[in-house]
Amino acid sequence: MSLLEIKNLKTYFETKDGVVKAVDDVSFTLEEGEAIGLVGESGCGKTTTALSIINLLPQEGRVVGGEINYNGKNLAELDQNKIRRYRWNDISIAFQGAMNALNPVKKIGEQITEVMMYHNGLDYKSARKKAKELLELVEIDSARIDQYPHEFSGGMKQRVMIAMALACDPKVLIGDEPTTALDVMVQAQILELLEKLRKELGMSVILITHDLSVMAETCDKAAVMYAGKIVETGSVENIINNSSHPYTQKLVKAFPDIHGKKEMTESIPGTPPDLITPPSGCYFHPRCEHATEECRVSAPPLRKMAENHYVACHLKGV
Ligand SMILES: Nc1ncnc2c1ncn2[C@@H]1O[C@H](COP(=O)(O)OP(=O)(O)OP(=O)(O)O)[C@@H](O)[C@H]1O
Ligand SMILES: [Mg+2]
Repeated sequence: MSLLEIKNLKTYFETKDGVVKAVDDVSFTLEEGEAIGLVGESGCGKTTTALSIINLLPQEGRVVGGEINYNGKNLAELDQNKIRRYRWNDISIAFQGAMNALNPVKKIGEQITEVMMYHNGLDYKSARKKAKELLELVEIDSARIDQYPHEFSGGMKQRVMIAMALACDPKVLIGDEPTTALDVMVQAQILELLEKLRKELGMSVILITHDLSVMAETCDKAAVMYAGKIVETGSVENIINNSSHPYTQKLVKAFPDIHGKKEMTESIPGTPPDLITPPSGCYFHPRCEHATEECRVSAPPLRKMAENHYVACHLKGV
């Protein structure tokens, strides 16, 4: 049994213009100590997938189908009260744009201790002691515990957010673009930190990024999302060196030097589809130079190409 199994997850948003199918039949598993990358262009449903896992969706969003099995328990069936117990303690998120999510008028130590006191029932003294340990763990001098967010650089604030996400010893840490907006050096340091935490704490990681090079450096496996669906999934090795879906191939090409350059050098022509009225057949067909009549009329299922490699493309895996 996997630590976390996302099975046929569907999350939709009700909007005045119609229903946005932000996550549409997404499945993946995560083992203990494993890191998976969720990659894809802006708007493909990465954050929505993460928020669905511990039901932190905005009011207009709803999980309408599928299972989220954590340690054998289906979290999708739990009401807000019951799922609250799993947040922070089992599955914790360092949010997208988290650097700016710290409360500017509260000392960082206070913000971290509050999480432990509220969610773990720790008394102030023990929480403060642990907050200091966590700061050291993310390589911030614990003497800075009584400083305010503005006294820290962007990368340091990101470390504080990671320390906070670790406050209740989660089994799964979700990092939503944890290094975006940081410069390349700081980005590398944060990624190394995540690696260290994964090894030392035996944590599992879901790393959300639009940057394939970040995924390649940090993860064991990856799921490539396009318009709310997984189009290719497998080991990082297969995704990078053996990519089979035309979309993944374009993504890989957009990051020519996976281990060096961090910037996307070539953008993929065209734009992702509208998720209220997506195209017929394969959602990628309007942007795909290989598209055939079959691609226009029928949606390709994910098919096994090899061990640790699945692709949803009519032209592959048959
Ligand atoms: N509150 C909302 N109401 C309506 N639609 C939403 C809402 N939040 C997200 N969406 C839509 O759901 C889809 C998936 O969005 P999501 O934020 O999950 O994408 P993402 O992959 O995280 O993108 P990014 O890389 O920009 O963070 C998008 O089409 C988005 O417009
Ligand atoms: Mg996002």
